Amino acid sequence: MANKNIVVLGGDGIGPEVTAWGNDVLKNIADAFGHTFSFENHLIGHAAIEATGEPLPDETLQACKKADAILLGAVGHPMYDNDPSKKVRPEQGLLKIRKSLGLYTNIRPIQIFDELAHASSIKPEILKGADILFFRELTGGIYFGEPRERQENGEVAIDTMRYSKMEVRRIAEKAFDAAMTRRKIVHSIDKANVLESSRLWRETVNEVAKNYPEVKLIHMFIDNAAMQLIKDPKQFDVVVTGNMFGDILTDEASQIAGSLGMLASASVGDSVGIYEPIHGSAPDIAGQNIANPLATILSTALLLDISFGMKEEAQAVIDAVDAVLKDGYRTSDIAGNNTPKDKILGTDAIGQQVVDRIRAAVTT
Ligand code: IPM
Ligand code: MG
Repeated sequence: MANKNIVVLGGDGIGPEVTAWGNDVLKNIADAFGHTFSFENHLIGHAAIEATGEPLPDETLQACKKADAILLGAVGHPMYDNDPSKKVRPEQGLLKIRKSLGLYTNIRPIQIFDELAHASSIKPEILKGADILFFRELTGGIYFGEPRERQENGEVAIDTMRYSKMEVRRIAEKAFDAAMTRRKIVHSIDKANVLESSRLWRETVNEVAKNYPEVKLIHMFIDNAAMQLIKDPKQFDVVVTGNMFGDILTDEASQIAGSLGMLASASVGDSVGIYEPIHGSAPDIAGQNIANPLATILSTALLLDISFGMKEEAQAVIDAVDAVLKDGYRTSDIAGNNTPKDKILGTDAIGQQVVDRIRAAVTT
């Protein structure tokens, strides 16, 4: 029986719609297993800029620092995308919270739900059996390196790809630790044929690997990795890579899981963790009750497991999602040509299906 305080950051676009269901799932898990979870909602992203002028108000950051775990929806709004002159941007809120909480490890598990193989643009026989665990470095690299500025009267722009050995070592260790509990293969992705920061990355990963003699380490260039991921995803077990390469590869890898709407993620470091779907704010479908809440619901399973050490509770969430899919229910992003109309559900209806199964599983 545990008492936990969870901060919910709905954010922008479909964010609040999907976190509402993540919240409900957690509430039902607490009831079913005799825990007490309390929830606090706070602002981040465009929603926070509108209300306070800041993408990450101090009130939000302070609440997150005190929380036992954070559930996040999505951050981003189209009004900024085509206006590079905007100085205050929703994404700054997300980057600042990752940095402020020291969340240097972004874990993105890619598993194919067999029922959803058809929703992918990749052939089912290539996907079946794929199971990849991504470790994306989240507080360094080109996302944070200095200088990052305009120069020469605005005619030139600079970003800096910077890594320290310390930053590479700590994420590499997390990846190797995970590999020891799996198939014992680590692919480290870099661009060491061109970038100095990648040569440091490779050198450091090699040093870490010496402590894990049982793990097979394979270095791969990012361009080749992007191709191999689609060609033969089953070759990968654990993948470790820097911030930007990881951002790009994990969106690509979503096609291995069937849909971006299914992918959960955990951002952890030395204190409180953030759990969020990897899809974005999807402004084109916001407010229509059609967004897929399953990635957020699966993120609550990671939250229960990683931050609270509640394995049984986490499994109850995964089993409920599995059962809903096995019963043929789909949101429109994961529906196939053969999905009967009455099985295609909106956000609220599929969320409710998951909650009903959690309740049923525990009472029986
Ligand atoms: C992600 C997103 C973010 C990132 C954006 C919204 C800043 O794409 O979490 O993958 O690039 O890290
Ligand atoms: Mg991304």
